[in-house]
Amino acid sequence: MLKNKRQKAIGVFDSGFGGLNIMQSLVKVLPKYDFVYLGDTARIPYGTRSPEVVYEFTKQAVDFLFAKKCELIIFACNTASSDALRHIQREYLPKYYPSKKVLGVIIPTVEVANSKTKNKKIGVIATEGTVLSGAFSREILKINPQVKVWQNACPLLVSVIEAGEQDSVIMEILLKKYLKPLIAKKIDTLILGCTHYGILKNKIKKIIGNKIHIISEAEIVASKLKDYLKRHSEIESKLSKKSVNTFYSTDLTDKFQLLGTKFFGKKITVQKAKLI
Ligand code: DGL
Repeated sequence: MLKNKRQKAIGVFDSGFGGLNIMQSLVKVLPKYDFVYLGDTARIPYGTRSPEVVYEFTKQAVDFLFAKKCELIIFACNTASSDALRHIQREYLPKYYPSKKVLGVIIPTVEVANSKTKNKKIGVIATEGTVLSGAFSREILKINPQVKVWQNACPLLVSVIEAGEQDSVIMEILLKKYLKPLIAKKIDTLILGCTHYGILKNKIKKIIGNKIHIISEAEIVASKLKDYLKRHSEIESKLSKKSVNTFYSTDLTDKFQLLGTKFFGKKITVQKAKLI
């Protein structure tokens, strides 16, 4: 009985392989734990889909990861965190998984952004779905209603990264186009509100300069989870600590192996996941 109770892993869910960047950081900060990663590569992007469809896909991902013995799940995907997350927490978990937990990336990220901004002007770049949900603005203003938030949807960035063209001239042109309106608002803090944007950090820095603080989610989410586990011993005590990391994706292509390895920082072996 005790043995079973301690066999639980931490699930990490993303619409694709961008969340591997967050997984990499989680493994670095919490190396003893077991992680199960799921990337819904067959249905990426989520960022251009309706909230209803993202919720449906997300419920399936949650079912999959809990069936893989996860005790809690981190939504690395901002699009899933921005709207589906609260429906999962309020409606789905109480009904089907009352003892399990699901956490997103938006709240930990805005907590740090709020603590960093001095002039109270924060910019956000994210997918269309995340921007339309208003989740970043809502959560920032909950902490401090004095802050001004400007969001810019960047619909083309994910596809350019997915095509492996993140170092191209096209990327530079797109970044300048998306960042210019935010720089014009004199923001002093910029949230990279999408799993994929972490790998663009240096390029973004070159464009916006040193005066604007960049909030990139990977490190934040990992240290906040560490903190969370310290405060929630009832969950922590159930987690197995064998340093086993397992990777699933809904479509197995060479690209996932290749770009997945790039995002995770070392070679990964991916198994096919079937979501129903
Ligand atoms: N994972 C998504 C996010 O963080 C980006 C990719 C997508 O559109 O599915 O918002």
